[in-house]
Amino acid sequence: MASGNIIDGKAFAENLRARVADAVTSLKQEHGVTPGLAVVLVGEDPASQVYVRNKGKQTSACGMESFEHRLSVDTTQAALLELIAALNADDTVHGILVQLPLPDHIEEQAVIDAVDPEKDVDGFHVINTGRLATGAAAMVPCTPLGCLMMLEDRLGDLSGLEAVIVGRSNIVGKPMAALLMGANCTVTVAHSRTRDLPGVCRRADILVAAVGRPEMIRGDWIKPGATVIDVGINRIPAAEKGKMRLVGDVAFDEAAAVAGAITPVPGGVGPMTIAVLLRNTVIAACRQKGIAEPVI
Ligand code: GUN
Repeated sequence: MASGNIIDGKAFAENLRARVADAVTSLKQEHGVTPGLAVVLVGEDPASQVYVRNKGKQTSACGMESFEHRLSVDTTQAALLELIAALNADDTVHGILVQLPLPDHIEEQAVIDAVDPEKDVDGFHVINTGRLATGAAAMVPCTPLGCLMMLEDRLGDLSGLEAVIVGRSNIVGKPMAALLMGANCTVTVAHSRTRDLPGVCRRADILVAAVGRPEMIRGDWIKPGATVIDVGINRIPAAEKGKMRLVGDVAFDEAAAVAGAITPVPGGVGPMTIAVLLRNTVIAACRQKGIAEPVI
């Protein structure tokens, strides 16, 4: 397949970060506001540590204020909720992200519920879920919003297209469905109990894979010319002994031979998530300060 059919998420994310940086410069110059993002990490999960480090670096690189709170793995839920209350009350903090997963003794939902919905740059609070579902101005979860941006960039108006989402998680599948319905697609949400999953996928003009099953979606499940967005990030053993490699939920080579456009793994959806988080922080800061939102 021509390389032009590969959607370069890394380049897209760089471009988005540059637009975020421009918006931050304007906010500072015209309104004296520096958007601030607080990221909270509990424990020492290695993947989470990498994410949090990258978030901090990219936040600063865009000209925003980055606040990192690293708490020990035995932090109590009460202590975490106390920190969130302090961040909610802090005028220099416009976005709050609590890195998931949390240690087992902390109830994730209680933590999500505690974040001020106006500062909920993850878009996980039920207020934002409800706003998104009803078409109101919400904070929108970063990964699905990044997918929508790439789809609209590639396809323009999505009206009337058949979209199939494989996976029904609160973080990706469900908000992706709301966004695609908002963009006038005909949306099907498929999952582990769906009958004839290959047949359902074959209907899709837009196929979003978010199941967390390595290379589950095969080339012959894809309608020729469809746009395929692979949200999966799965670590599997590599050909070289002892090494691991990253693959998506889609069998890339097979799918790329059929699809009109496809996101690779790595380098597709992954890089977009943090870039959208930065964008959400700018939007949150504008809303909190009563400043007209830039289009980014
Ligand atoms: N862990 C992995 N991805 C994410 C994310 O987008 N937000 C939060 N809060 N935790 C995560």
